[in-house]
Amino acid sequence: MFAQRLRPRRLRISENVRSMVRETTLSVKDFVYPIFVVPGENVCEPIPSMPGCNHLSVDKAVELAKEIASLGIPAVEVFGLPEYKDEIGSSAWDMTSPVQRAIAAIKKEVPDLVIVGDVCLCQYTTHGHCGRLDGHYVDNDATLPLLQNVAVSQAEAGADIIAPSDMMDGRVRAIREALDDRGMTNVSIMSYAVKYASGYYGPFRDAADSAPQFGDRKQYQMDPANAHEAMKEVDLDIAEGADIIMVKPALAYLDIVHRVRERIEYPVAVYNVSGEYAMVKAAAQNGWIDEKRIVLETLTSMKRAGADIIITYHAIDAAKWLKE
Ligand code: PBG
Ligand code: ZN
Repeated sequence: MFAQRLRPRRLRISENVRSMVRETTLSVKDFVYPIFVVPGENVCEPIPSMPGCNHLSVDKAVELAKEIASLGIPAVEVFGLPEYKDEIGSSAWDMTSPVQRAIAAIKKEVPDLVIVGDVCLCQYTTHGHCGRLDGHYVDNDATLPLLQNVAVSQAEAGADIIAPSDMMDGRVRAIREALDDRGMTNVSIMSYAVKYASGYYGPFRDAADSAPQFGDRKQYQMDPANAHEAMKEVDLDIAEGADIIMVKPALAYLDIVHRVRERIEYPVAVYNVSGEYAMVKAAAQNGWIDEKRIVLETLTSMKRAGADIIITYHAIDAAKWLKE
């Protein structure tokens, strides 16, 4: 009889042995939790398309930030719904808008929590596009000064990291310049360098009221079929001064995460987006999957693919599960 000598199962024999040879570990320190701030006071309204997430007024956002910090999660990313919208999205750099007020209030009350500001215009423009329009075309270069305004206003409010998600060419350089000109040289840039034109953003667009009113975002966000182009985007954003490179969405693009990880010596972030979150929540609510197990397995796969940072709506639940 054939003598079996090579037995990978030996190293799976017990939990302690498995833990000795485990290659990837998920930690609460990997997470960034996204929050949605709205006008008003004492507001905590569930977001229907994203069960477990809420629209929060600034006071409630500060309360949540304290809980986030006490769980050991190192960072929040702040998104907002403004008081008013116009053609150019000027409420995006209004210091009295919910985002700027939330950043300032969280910085004051929870000073150690890292604050990431999402820089884009789609939540703030009447047309819902991520830049300034020229007819029906999003004008790249005319958008850059507006993004500089947003980045500077968030940094002045107290953001530690600026995260441009608009996908205009040259915005990392423009934002770096605007920050440096004002002496804000220690504010980092986490670029949404590789952001695909994805169907997975649907629930977020409901939550942020940011769906385009005509057309789509395919003239500025990337074609899901492209991988070489992702490497080009990464190289450009690093050359322009990005400190952290993000790939978004995460789950359907883990091959891209892996390729980016192999290519660069910078931290890599992934955005585990709203559609990925909503699918898990819906299946869990139906009793079709084990939510805890699926979430931890999925987040671990993002680490294994090469991510250092995971922006995820599961962060609070996952932080609690990792403690157990
Ligand atoms: C804004 C922005 C989007 C997301 C983050 N910033 C949506 C979009 O591009 O339409 C998506 C986040 C998510 O789906 O969780 N540009
Ligand atoms: Zn946008």
